[in-house]
Amino acid sequence: MERTFIAVKPDGVQRGLCGDIIKRFEARGFKLVAAKFIQASEEHMKNHYLDLKDMPFYGGLCKYMSSGPVFAMVWEGQSIVKLARMMMGETNPADSKPGSIRGDLCINIGRNIIHGSDTLENAKREVGLWFKAEEFVTYTPCTQTFLYE
Ligand SMILES: Nc1ncnc2c1ncn2[C@@H]1O[C@H](COP(=O)(O)OP(=O)(O)O)[C@@H](O)[C@H]1O
Ligand SMILES: [Mg+2]
Repeated sequence: MERTFIAVKPDGVQRGLCGDIIKRFEARGFKLVAAKFIQASEEHMKNHYLDLKDMPFYGGLCKYMSSGPVFAMVWEGQSIVKLARMMMGETNPADSKPGSIRGDLCINIGRNIIHGSDTLENAKREVGLWFKAEEFVTYTPCTQTFLYE
């Protein structure tokens, strides 16, 4: 089983889209293993987006991501890193197909409502950056045997 880090960004929180986003991951069959509603510091966001430090939008992105609360989550499931990215759509909502989260719910690349780890390696790094070991809940969903062969 893989784990990935998903966050509803401040724009998604303000627009009341947490429920819609959580619903899609639940409906797909993925398992929520950790979640918290927090306002991250700009330093934390700079670390989170370190890969993008040379991009012109890095400063504005980190400021925006720390400007209000985010809903941070860790979801678990088979191939979830790749599948979550497909559910999200493209980075630019204008290139995202209807049916995807960004294709259904937003318009602008700088206000694309959701973050999701792009590789398994980055997922591990981001999960560790946002959550401590004691914040994970261990349980077996009753649906497990009907979701996986
Ligand atoms: N050209 C851009 N202009 C403004 N913001 C951008 C641009 N490209 C990316 N971003 C912002 O930076 C975030 C991180 O970029 P990236 O990791 O490339 O995309 P993704 O969130 O799809 O993984 C994007 O989700 C978006 O909010
Ligand atoms: Mg990314």
